[in-house]
Amino acid sequence: MSETHLPVPLLPAGTSWRKHQPDCDFWITSVQELSAEAAAWARYLDIPLKASDYRRPCSEGRAYELNFSGDGVSIIPRHDKAPGPVLADLAGPAARYRRAHGGGRGEMVCRAVGLRRGVDTLRVLDATAGLGGDAMVLASAGCRVQMLERHPVVYLLLMDGLRRLRDSEPEAGWEERLTLDYGGFNQSRTEYGGFDVIYLDPMFPGRKKKSQVKKAMQVFQDLVGKDPDADLLLQPALDSGARRVVVKRPRLAPYLSGIRPSTSLQGKSCRYDIYPLASLVQV
Ligand SMILES: C[S@@+](CC[C@H](N)C(=O)[O-])C[C@H]1O[C@@H](n2cnc3c(N)ncnc32)[C@H](O)[C@@H]1O
Repeated sequence: MSETHLPVPLLPAGTSWRKHQPDCDFWITSVQELSAEAAAWARYLDIPLKASDYRRPCSEGRAYELNFSGDGVSIIPRHDKAPGPVLADLAGPAARYRRAHGGGRGEMVCRAVGLRRGVDTLRVLDATAGLGGDAMVLASAGCRVQMLERHPVVYLLLMDGLRRLRDSEPEAGWEERLTLDYGGFNQSRTEYGGFDVIYLDPMFPGRKKKSQVKKAMQVFQDLVGKDPDADLLLQPALDSGARRVVVKRPRLAPYLSGIRPSTSLQGKSCRYDIYPLASLVQV
């Protein structure tokens, strides 16, 4: 693979991406043929590149290996009682099964953005893409989804997941249906006009114990933190010219920015708050 296969972002490297995890160790390992790519990312993220058999000496705190292998890029937690590896699994068996046998347009996220008879496709900006699970469901159901992710490591995992998805289904047109951009959605970004729906799912400072949180979310909490600026997302989305804004929240969480939605869809553990601004039916 070439160094440009998973290119480092063009935007300036964030100097503060590790601010949420002062007690966490990070390093990169790589199989030999990927080391140029891994080295570029190690420079960009400013973390050490180690031999692939490197194991951190036992110490306090939490430890994460960012592993480049022929199977893709994953985060492998290396501390005591750590959960298993985390990757953007858009091409694996579980994701394939969900695409083939999940609820399709009946999935809650699809209903929340407004897919229904007469509204078969929508241009969606998933402004907090994470590992791309929601975006993949929306794209599978017929939306054209632009993902935006501001955390460089999450962006790297997602870029890798998207590459594997496109490689595994070259005829499926994923290049048009699901795209990814690096950066933060905020007041000063004006280039995000032209979407029917803006979808927001920021991290939430949950009260669950670590043991109750899914493994990907535990790693996310260490890596990304709690998106303390989440309340700044809603107003720019409402002002963007989109026809609808949808916010995913834990079931009992307060409304984002304290702004009451017109309606909400309630799930078992989460809720979709819906802010309709114009009809989704194109005339
Ligand atoms: C809970 S995760 C999203 C999970 C995602 N819906 C999924 O299905 O995998 C939240 C993500 O939003 C990102 N994020 C938060 N605020 C953002 C912003 N203003 N712009 C871009 N990304 C943001 C975080 O870095 C994190 O990766």
